[in-house]
Amino acid sequence: MPFIRSHALDETGYVVLDRYDQHADPAEWLDLDYVPWRSSGITRFAPLTSYAGDLDCNGFWNHTPPRTDKDGVWIEEQVRKAPVLARRASEPGANIGRCRVIELQPNTYADAIYNLHQDDNNRLNAEGTGWVVRAFFNLTDDSDSLLILRQDRFDPASEVRLPLEPGSRIIVDTQRFWHAVWHPGDAPRYALITSWTSGPELDAYIAAGHGDPHAATVELDQQTVDDAQLELHRRIEERRRAFEAQGIVMEPPAPLG
Ligand SMILES: [Fe+2]
Repeated sequence: MPFIRSHALDETGYVVLDRYDQHADPAEWLDLDYVPWRSSGITRFAPLTSYAGDLDCNGFWNHTPPRTDKDGVWIEEQVRKAPVLARRASEPGANIGRCRVIELQPNTYADAIYNLHQDDNNRLNAEGTGWVVRAFFNLTDDSDSLLILRQDRFDPASEVRLPLEPGSRIIVDTQRFWHAVWHPGDAPRYALITSWTSGPELDAYIAAGHGDPHAATVELDQQTVDDAQLELHRRIEERRRAFEAQGIVMEPPAPLG
């Protein structure tokens, strides 16, 4: 049995929806409780849902009994502090798995390329049910920052770069893409990231938001791209040697939440 998928994501694996009027909302993300959680880059997370409603960022499969990234339980004290964010995550009516605000410290393009990873949202997901995808809602004004997607981790020709204006809404099959954010700002970036289950509810939400699978990619000069590729391979080799010196054979990079 195949998974239920959103056809809007079939062709390119992502859609960019109409921008949300972020400026009209209070900065609820500043009121939330954050926990240290290393994702790609220097990050902290403020979970709005978790496996059991506790202030916890761990994958649902790391609990007993394990479960896939669905049926997240709202964390009451967080929802009280961020009712608008919770409402926005609930708006499609699609099943919600993990839902959290990410805080990302500024980084470089080379950092972002090194941080590229695939998510594992669909671990333990049952065939015949909805495929889990991720929504990225940018909360702060990071118009110069880019969500970077690559089909092939090592191939910059496969790269798409989507700008992160306040209120930008991007839905991505993060298990299909290698992804990370390049955030050159001087203050942290905040974004709401929600795991949604594909199905008719999500399809209707994407259609209502005029989801565009061909949103324009931001061009970068070739030198910047080439320099980051060199730095990527340099860092991988450096890491390999560090592990080798400890007698550890390096495994391929593990997916991150
Ligand atoms: Fe990710």
